[in-house]
Amino acid sequence: MARTPRQAPGRPAGLAPAEGFREDVIAGLSLPRKALPPKYFYDARGSALFEAICRLPEYYPTRAELALTRAHLAGIARFARRGCTLIEYGSGESLKSRLLIRALRPAAYVPVDISGDALRGACARLAREFPWLRLAPVAGDFSRPLEIPGIEGPGRRVVYFPGSTIGNLTPDEALAFLRMTRGQVGVNGAMLVGVDLKKDANVLHAAYNDARGVTAAFNLNLLARINRELGGNFDLKRFRHYAFYNATLGRIEMHLVSLARQTVAVGRHRFAFEPGESIHTENSCKYSVAEFQALAARAGFRGARAWTDRRGRFALHGLVSG
Ligand code: AVJ
Repeated sequence: MARTPRQAPGRPAGLAPAEGFREDVIAGLSLPRKALPPKYFYDARGSALFEAICRLPEYYPTRAELALTRAHLAGIARFARRGCTLIEYGSGESLKSRLLIRALRPAAYVPVDISGDALRGACARLAREFPWLRLAPVAGDFSRPLEIPGIEGPGRRVVYFPGSTIGNLTPDEALAFLRMTRGQVGVNGAMLVGVDLKKDANVLHAAYNDARGVTAAFNLNLLARINRELGGNFDLKRFRHYAFYNATLGRIEMHLVSLARQTVAVGRHRFAFEPGESIHTENSCKYSVAEFQALAARAGFRGARAWTDRRGRFALHGLVSG
């Protein structure tokens, strides 16, 4: 792999910040079944709302993953191996990564995030906490192959992808993503993936329909963001958060449902809504341990391991590229 010069981390060349967003919104609202990509939830307000979701009593995944990471830390670190290059996708505030770094002592840590600001903050903290750690932040989109800065030691590459973010992808998309990541870590590279487990639909339903309405606010903020950044005129009172567990497809679906017949403008584009018509804003796919291991095997990973929390709510999969 070519060594990258000390290049300013940035966006893909040729795209102004709002352009990808605008194109994706226009395309998504033009579909016969309207849909918007969940990655656009995370502007400053959306990220704050997501952090509030993680503290909700009903939203168990964050606490379950933290609990399993604490409980199995030594085993997880042994799996990843000391001296590896730890690459984290969507690093964010990274409490779990700090646990892992402390136990694992990787040679280098490569946090990857679309938010340059979040990365700078996180790296400043990590540099203070782990003065021995080589840090190589990458501001970019991990849904595409990345140039990893050439600061690696002799150890293997391990991609850490916690939080069940992989659940935003359909199984076909997740398969393609796992194959791409396999290319990213190379032969004998590894991956640690956090995956929410299938469980009682009532528990799932509550986690995405919290009593305080924080998840509803998080979902609706996507429309507010379109209004702010793309000159939209969505009336947030005329759309309602709707989330349910689709048992056939093994996923929570989040939608924004139009409460009336209405037309909404985004810049110079106009979109008509029927009463009850929805914008599909997120999938959150749930997998049993066996289901996810089968998917990983199809992507070319072998030697699968899985750790779960004591209450069987969440899994961390250790995958080795074959
Ligand atoms: C960050 C994608 C894992 O699917 O549970 C939380 C996002 N959406 N509540 C999830 C989310 C609504 C979350 N992921």
